[in-house]
Amino acid sequence: MIPLRIILVGLGARAQFWMRVVRENPQCTIVGLIDPFEDARTRALAQWPEATASGDLDLITQLDADVVLLATPPGGRERQIELACEAGLAILAEKPLADSVERAARYVAMAEYAGVPLSVGLNFRFLPVTQHTLGLFADMVGPPEFGRFTYERWRDGWKPNFNKYPLTMDQPMLWEQSIHHFDLMRFVYRSEPISVFGSTFNPSWSMYRDNANVSALIRFANGVEVNYQGLWQSNWQKPGFQWRTECQKGVVVQNDQFGDLNYALHADAELTSVSLPPYEQWINDAKSLLDAFVAAMRGTAPLPCTGRDHLNSLRMVQACIVSSRQGQAVNPADLETHAKREIGTTTQSAPQQRTSQ
Ligand SMILES: NC(=O)c1ccc[n+]([C@@H]2O[C@H](COP(=O)([O-])OP(=O)(O)OC[C@H]3O[C@@H](n4cnc5c(N)ncnc54)[C@H](O)[C@@H]3O)[C@@H](O)[C@H]2O)c1
Repeated sequence: MIPLRIILVGLGARAQFWMRVVRENPQCTIVGLIDPFEDARTRALAQWPEATASGDLDLITQLDADVVLLATPPGGRERQIELACEAGLAILAEKPLADSVERAARYVAMAEYAGVPLSVGLNFRFLPVTQHTLGLFADMVGPPEFGRFTYERWRDGWKPNFNKYPLTMDQPMLWEQSIHHFDLMRFVYRSEPISVFGSTFNPSWSMYRDNANVSALIRFANGVEVNYQGLWQSNWQKPGFQWRTECQKGVVVQNDQFGDLNYALHADAELTSVSLPPYEQWINDAKSLLDAFVAAMRGTAPLPCTGRDHLNSLRMVQACIVSSRQGQAVNPADLETHAKREIGTTTQSAPQQRTSQ
C-alpha cells in the first residue's frame, strides 16, 4: 500500500517523537519538514534526509502530500490550517488545537468547509492504562459515580529539551496539560461536563508568567463529579499523580499518569494491580493514535479525536478560566452568555479580578 505522505510542521520537542513514530509506521512517510529555524530544519533533515525542508509554510501547497501534521505551538496556527485546507490535505494537529475556543472553532469550521479531516493528537486516550480503565468500569467495578484527579509536578520550564512558549503564555497549565486531563475525563466517564467551578493561581516560586496551578470541581451530565488539582508549580521536584474513581461496586485507582492501574471491590482488603502491556512512554500512545488516524484515512475506521469533539474539552478549559475570574461555577455550554456578561461589565465598570497569585 502506498504510504501516506506527511508534511511535518514545527520541528521542536514534540516533533522528535513524531519523526520516530512515523519512521516506524510502514504506512506513512514524511515528505516535508517546515520550521522557521534553520537549526531545527537541519536536525530534522538528519533524521529524514529524503524530505524537502523549508522555513516557508507555502511548502504545504507545493508538495504532493496527503497529511499535514502540526507540531507547532497552539497560538498562531491560522495560516497553517488555511494552507492545509487550500491544498486539500488532512490535518493531524497536536493538542490543544488552539489557545482559545473561538480560534479552534474557526479552524474546525474551515476544515469542515474544505472537506478535510481534522484530528487532534490526544494520545493519552490511547495509553494502555486508559483503555484498561474503560474495561474495569465495564467488567469489574461498575459505572463511575465520582472521582479525585491529582497531578502534582514542579515542571522546570527552563529545561533545555522543553518548549519555552508556556513560560509566557496565558494559563499554561490549563491549555497545555489540563486539556489532556479534561479530555480523559470526558473519554472515560462517557459524559459531557455541565458545571466547572475552577480557580487558577500562581505560587510565589512560579517561573511561569501566568497561572501554573489549577483546582476545579467538575460535574458531568451523567452525575459524575470530579475534584481536580493540576499543578505545574508544586514545590517538590518529585511528581505525584493519582486518579481515583469511586464506582458502583468499588474503586479504580491509577497511581501514575502512564500506568500503575489498580482496582478494589467494596469488601476487598487490598487493591488488585492490573497487568498492562509493555509500554514506552510517548511512543506507544502516539503509535496507536497514528494507526487510528491512518485507518480513518484508508476509510476503514472513523476519524479519531475529531476537532469538533475536541471543542468540548477546550470549552472545559475556558469554563475553568471564566469561573476563576467570576468566582462562580460555569456551564461550558453557556460560555457565550458569560462572555457577553463580561463585556457588559467591562463597559460599565472595571472588571472584578479574582487574583489568587
Ligand atoms: N500530545 C502530547 O503528549 C504532547 C507533548 C508535548 C507537546 N505537545 C504539543 O505539541 C505542540 C508543539 O510543542 P513542542 O513541545 O514541540 O514545542 P516547541 O516549542 O519545542 O516546538 C515548536 C516548533 O514549532 C516551530 N514553529 C513555530 N511557529 C511555526 C510556524 N508558524 N511554522 C512552522 N513552525 C513553527 C518552532 O520554531 C519550534 O521549532 C504543542 O501544541 C504542544 O502542546 C503535545
